[in-house]
Amino acid sequence: MSRLDTLRNRLVLLIFAITAAAIGFVYLYVVPQLESSLTAEKLRRLERLGIEGAPQLTSALRAGTPDAVVAKAVREISQDTETRVTLLAAGDQGGVLAPEFVLADSGDEPTAIQGSYDSASAAVEAGTARSGVETIAGERVGTSAVPIADDGEIRWVAVLSSPLDDVEDNVALIRRQILIAGAIALAAASLAGFWAAGAVSRRLRRLRRAAEQVADGDFTHPIPIDSSDELGQLARTFNEMQRRLARLDSARKEFIANASHELRTPIFSLGGFVELLETEKPSATERKQFMGEIRGQIDRLQKLTADLLDLSKLDADAMELRSEPVDLKEVARELAADFRPAARLHRSKLQVRGRGAAVAMADPDRVAQIIRILLDNALAHTARGTSVTVTAVRGNASAELIVGDEGRGIEPRSVERVFDRFYTGDTSSGSGLGLAIAAELAELMDGELEVVSQRGFTAFTLSLPLAEPIQGPGAEAGARDTGPEPVHGEQGSRA
Ligand SMILES: Nc1ncnc2c1ncn2[C@@H]1O[C@H](COP(=O)(O)OP(=O)(O)O)[C@@H](O)[C@H]1O
Ligand SMILES: [Mg+2]
Repeated sequence: MSRLDTLRNRLVLLIFAITAAAIGFVYLYVVPQLESSLTAEKLRRLERLGIEGAPQLTSALRAGTPDAVVAKAVREISQDTETRVTLLAAGDQGGVLAPEFVLADSGDEPTAIQGSYDSASAAVEAGTARSGVETIAGERVGTSAVPIADDGEIRWVAVLSSPLDDVEDNVALIRRQILIAGAIALAAASLAGFWAAGAVSRRLRRLRRAAEQVADGDFTHPIPIDSSDELGQLARTFNEMQRRLARLDSARKEFIANASHELRTPIFSLGGFVELLETEKPSATERKQFMGEIRGQIDRLQKLTADLLDLSKLDADAMELRSEPVDLKEVARELAADFRPAARLHRSKLQVRGRGAAVAMADPDRVAQIIRILLDNALAHTARGTSVTVTAVRGNASAELIVGDEGRGIEPRSVERVFDRFYTGDTSSGSGLGLAIAAELAELMDGELEVVSQRGFTAFTLSLPLAEPIQGPGAEAGARDTGPEPVHGEQGSRA
C-alpha cells in the first residue's frame, strides 16, 4: 500500500495543500499589492508637499533673488518636509521643454538626481505636478516634481525625493512575518488534520473489522455508536443490518433443522417397514398393512417436498403468479367435489355457499392451493363429524372466501402462531407448513389470510382484490341479494 493510499495521509496532504495555497496567495498577491499601495501613498504625500512648498520657491525665483538665498529656501523646504529637494532649471532642448541643470540641491551632492529626471521631465512637459519611482544610484527613490512658471512660462522645476527604503523595510518585515506565521499555520493545520483524519480512519477501521466479523458469520459484536455524525449513522445502520442478518441467519438455521427433522421422520419409518418386510416374513394381511403405512409415509414425504419447494420459491421470489379473474365460488365448488371422499371418511358435512359474485383478481391455481390447505386443515384438525362450510362473498373492496368449521377451535395462545413455518398446534401428522404457504401466497396476490377461532368455531378468511366488475346483462344483480343459502347441490357427506 503506497503512502497516499490511506485516508489519513490524503486528508493531511489536502489540508496542507490548502493551507500552503492560502499562504502563497497572501505572500505572492496580497503583499505586492500592499507594497504598491504604500508606495502610491508615499508619492501622493511627496506631491502634496511639493505643491505646498512651490509658492515659496516661486516668489524667491521670480524676484531674481541671489542663488544663495534660493539655495537656503530649498534647504528650508527640505527640512520642513524631510525630503531631499532639488531645483532644476528648464529650457528648450531641441524644440522640447526639458530640465537642463541643477540650480540648487538640499543634499550634499549637487548631482544627486541622476539619470533622466523622469518625473521632472514629465512635469515640465505636462505643466503640472508629476510623481514616480526612479532608481538613483541603485536605490529606489520616490520623486515628485512641481513645475514653477514665470510670466506663464515654465522655467524651473522643483523635485522632492525620498528613498523608498522604509516602504521596502516594512514590506520585508511583513513578508518575514507571513512566512513565520505561515510555517506555524502549516504545522498546526497538518497536526490538526493528522489528528482528525486519524480519528476518522480509526472509526472506519473499526467498521471494517466489524464487517469482517459479519462476513465470517459472527453477528454478536455491535459497533459502539459514539456520535450522531455520518459515521455514527453508518455504524447505526450497520448494527441494524447485523441484527437483521442475525435474525435471518437463525431463521435459516431453524428452517434447515426443522426441514431435516420433518424429512427424517418418514424416511426413518420407511426404513423400519422395509426392514420388517425383509426379515419378518409377514403374513399377507400384515404385508397389506405395512404397504398402507409405507404409502402413507411416501405421501407425506411427497407433500413435504412439494411444500419445501414452494417455500424456497417464495423465499427466492421465484413464484410465478398469473393474474386473472377468478370466480371464488366456482373454484370452491370444484375443490369441494375433490374433497368429498375425504369428508365422507371424516363423516363431515361439507357445504359451499355463495353470496353475490365473488370474482377476485388472482392466480386460480394458487387460490385452489390455498383452499386445499384450508379444507385439509378443517378435516385434519377437527373431530370426526364436524361440519365444514365454504362461503364465497363479495365484500366492499375485496372478494372473500371463508372456510369455517365447527371443530374444537384453536387455542388462544396458538392463534398467533398458526401461520408460522413448521408450527403445529396439535399432534396430528402435519408438518406445519400449510398455513405458512397459504398466507404468503395470499400476500403475493395482494390479499391476506386471517383467522378467527373460538370454542366450537374456526374460520379462515381469504381476502383477494376484486376483479373489475364484469359488464354483463344483469350479471350480478340477482346474485347480490340472495342470502346465505346452499347454491350448490353439495349435500353433506356422511359415510
Ligand atoms: N381448522 C382448524 N382447526 C383447528 N386448528 C387448526 C385448523 N387449521 C389449522 N389449525 C392449527 O394450525 C396449525 C398449523 O396448520 P398448518 O400450517 O396447516 O400445519 P399442519 O396442518 O401441517 O399442522 C395446525 O397444526 C393446527 O394446530
Ligand atoms: Mg395443514
